[in-house]
Amino acid sequence: MNDVFYITTPIYYVNSHPHIGHAYTTIATDVLKRYMELLGAETFLLTGTDEHGQKIAESAAKSGVEPQEFVDRISQEFRDLWPNLHIEYDQFIRTTDSMHKACVQQIMQKIFDQGEIYLKEYEGLYCVGCERFLDEAELENEKCPDHQTTPKFYKEKNYFFKMSTYQDWLVKKLEENMEWVYPGRYRNELIQLLKDPLHDLCISRPKKRLKWGIELPFDKNFVTYVWFDALLNYASALGWPDGEKYKKFWPHVHHTIGKDILKTHGIYWPCMMKAAGIPIFKKLVVHGHWVVGGSKMSKSLGNVVDPLAVKDKLGVDALRYFLLRDMSFGEDSNFTEELAVTRYNSDLANNFGNLMNRSISMSRKNFQGCVPPLGKAGKQEKELHESFAKGVQKCREYIITFQPHRALEHVAFLSSKVNKYIDTCKPWTLTKEEKNSERLGTVLYTALDMSRIIVGLLDPVMPKKMCEARKILGLGEEIIPFSNLTPGLLVPGSELPKPSPLFPKIQISITNEENTKNQQLENSSNSSATEENANIAINDFQKIEIKIGLIKTCRKVDKSNKLLCSEVDLGETRLRSIVSGVAEFYSPEEMKGRKVLVVANLKPVKLMGSISEGMILFSDDNGKMVLIEPPEQVKPGVIVR
Ligand code: MSP
Repeated sequence: MNDVFYITTPIYYVNSHPHIGHAYTTIATDVLKRYMELLGAETFLLTGTDEHGQKIAESAAKSGVEPQEFVDRISQEFRDLWPNLHIEYDQFIRTTDSMHKACVQQIMQKIFDQGEIYLKEYEGLYCVGCERFLDEAELENEKCPDHQTTPKFYKEKNYFFKMSTYQDWLVKKLEENMEWVYPGRYRNELIQLLKDPLHDLCISRPKKRLKWGIELPFDKNFVTYVWFDALLNYASALGWPDGEKYKKFWPHVHHTIGKDILKTHGIYWPCMMKAAGIPIFKKLVVHGHWVVGGSKMSKSLGNVVDPLAVKDKLGVDALRYFLLRDMSFGEDSNFTEELAVTRYNSDLANNFGNLMNRSISMSRKNFQGCVPPLGKAGKQEKELHESFAKGVQKCREYIITFQPHRALEHVAFLSSKVNKYIDTCKPWTLTKEEKNSERLGTVLYTALDMSRIIVGLLDPVMPKKMCEARKILGLGEEIIPFSNLTPGLLVPGSELPKPSPLFPKIQISITNEENTKNQQLENSSNSSATEENANIAINDFQKIEIKIGLIKTCRKVDKSNKLLCSEVDLGETRLRSIVSGVAEFYSPEEMKGRKVLVVANLKPVKLMGSISEGMILFSDDNGKMVLIEPPEQVKPGVIVR
């Protein structure tokens, strides 16, 4: 762990309004920064907006306003949104800032003077959505796979950066530095891309076609290609080449990006830095995409989710929690409001919120509104302390290795451990006799003290809620330093103010309108496969996650002859509730204890009042449903491929 930590988000295009995808990257970056701060680092978070290029010029023209007026307006939307999502950035850069423009021109000139930029006639296919020329091999059915648009053909004179000369250097750098790009599969993807010859990069646009950009310092008939301009923001913001912030933070730079911009950050950017004499970034941290109705959430596909609408339903901090907890960093994840509400209810309302509510209320009731005194700690307390000591270290490891989802999963596990401890110690039975008062104090003190540690671990993800939590635990507003996440630091006798529930339970109510919208999106994203060919592509199949499950309990669903509801262990921190229409073929007793195959990434639905969070697979033997059972030795949670 470094003492200094500089982290950046991509700078977002201002051709469209911010959506959950942008919010995720920025929240994840903010969370990583806050964790590093908690671990004692001096941090700096940079975000901003990318304001030049053809895409923006076209959007401004469509809106009938000058580009500058247009970019001012949308850039402000991003800037206003971030504090609403509890994001604390240190600097907001705009590529239309004069300091940035000057830096781009200075670097362009430097590389030009080194003889690494030349003019040539070029023809190629340009995707305005990606703002780059695409190789033919990147196209699917002659379209850009990300934007589903046909790229435009251009033939014109342009300036080129001799990127090809850096190919061998870059391959070596990637091969020798396993940790440089995280997760490792994105490093492999870059190495794979570099198996083909690296072309020189077209870094200009003729002004007669595009005026909206930074003029080339060595030819006023051209503007700078938007990616060459945008990538430099990370250094220009800090005052490259000799600004104080640059000197201090640049050696510790980490870039968080979505996988859509891997090529520009993993190939163009290192080559540009190398040519400009800028030390190469420390780490590229790449996440997957939020998917809605089977497709990446994006403006061009019309399936974007407004972060503020979700915030209204869950509250900001719970939205932050859901985004960080449900997306395995690096992989794609489905976004639905139902999933968000289900996660909220299970982890926050039923698990941690319940732990806080009951430990505080029982302590207030039995110890005159104060933190109880700690009596003699027994075996159960010692075990809990051990789990927490290990747990805090585990979370630290997960955080510094950029796996916030695993840290949060572990925190949920710790919280259920304390809930189980309360269930086992049954403090409500200890209130009856005076002789048990010391034990009662010990149990409640331990529950409150462990809750304090959980609050400390959750602070970077839910800063406002955890500030409330500290207050109702009788602590001050100040953030608990990582070094204080050890048992026994809660002060007995301190006052516990009257609490209101931190995370009141939310009813799952998905409106018909939302259902229809999701269905339409699903249908539209499926229709091309159906029309073209009844078979699905391998990557469609790979979207289905099948896991081994173990049925722990099973019951008949009320008022239904057909439905059984099973509680299934999928190797996760909680059991999943899964409804199957097989009551005619299996009794609940026959289901219990069976190992099964479960489709684990289905959208939850409510069937006859019971939530179903997956599907157990059966074979249809002439109308008789027969459970498909995996081999005995395979454990719950194992993925079927
Ligand atoms: N302007 C460029 C970035 C230049 S950085 C020097 C750009 N802008 S963008 O507005 O399109 O933002 C792309 C980024 O937004 C992604 O890399 C990702 O961080 C975030 N996301 C956009 N859609 C997303 C999802 N559906 N899911 C997750 N993140 C997404 O590219």
